[in-house]
Amino acid sequence: MTNDPVLLNDWHPVATTAQLDESPIAGIRLLDEDIVVWRAGNRIHAWRDACVHRGTRLSLGKVIDGNCIQCPYHGWVYDSAGQCIRIPAMPDHIPPARARVKSFQAREEYGLVWVCVGEPANDIAPFPEWHEPEFRKLLCGPYTVQTSGPRIVENFLDVAHFPFVHENILGARQYTEIVDYKVTTDSTGVTASNVKVYQPDPYGTGQGDTVIYTYVAPRTLTAYLLKESEGPRFSILLVITPHSPVESSAWMWMAMNYGDDLPEQDLVDWQDSIFAQDKPIVESQRPKCLPLDPGAELSMRPDKTAVAYRRWLRELGMTFGVEAND
Ligand code: FES
Ligand SMILES: [Fe+2]
Repeated sequence: MTNDPVLLNDWHPVATTAQLDESPIAGIRLLDEDIVVWRAGNRIHAWRDACVHRGTRLSLGKVIDGNCIQCPYHGWVYDSAGQCIRIPAMPDHIPPARARVKSFQAREEYGLVWVCVGEPANDIAPFPEWHEPEFRKLLCGPYTVQTSGPRIVENFLDVAHFPFVHENILGARQYTEIVDYKVTTDSTGVTASNVKVYQPDPYGTGQGDTVIYTYVAPRTLTAYLLKESEGPRFSILLVITPHSPVESSAWMWMAMNYGDDLPEQDLVDWQDSIFAQDKPIVESQRPKCLPLDPGAELSMRPDKTAVAYRRWLRELGMTFGVEAND
């Protein structure tokens, strides 16, 4: 388990709630630790995914009696608090108190299961459109990426790559300049506002236009964008599962208040194709862990969101998925 003071005490998405409705146990890797998440009725549990008897993964076991897990190897049964209550090879024996697996905090939000392996320092980041019924919400991902979470977040906050990586979709090669914009860092995280980008067809009308984005990184591994406009509004909440310092999964909630007639699958396919363009780029970046030393890579004025994000991670004392070189 990491000792990163930020990620240890933050909430991380690990599964969809729909996934646990279908199959009540899932094994996931979070912060270099194997974790089993499982549902007992309407409660979600997250434990270290190792039986205390011989270290077998409990996620290979079964939910029995509605609120217990049975290990697949010798059938030890754990109650919902993680206490072993039955050892089938010794049916008359009361298992010792230390026959208990470590449990973590787990909860549901935005259709996802979130786990905190320490003590939550903050709530799960806000997603304002979640509670607004006129916004249609679509979940995309998880996209598994062989890189650190901060590299993925930084790519999400970057618009100068649009004309190159997303040519003729999010940008155009005749319009590459990024005019200056505003970046602030405060208790709500890093915010970049008035970020202008020319897009070839931002509203599906066939007409190119300059669009204005607001970007926020409210948590170190959560980012949000809002495409500002008078009528149609589009936002994305990006959340990351940090499996290891250099392997992550990205989930994206898209929210939009237009295009109700567009088939869900087409919208998800569109996001899949955008992410498929980013993936080889971010996987190619070296080092995979984001360098926080300001002199480590060459940043220019259009990179000021990234510069502020790196400075913020450094101030917070983040260590997982970053190179802190102090
Ligand atoms: S390893 Fe789990 S019961 Fe033996
Ligand atoms: Fe991109």
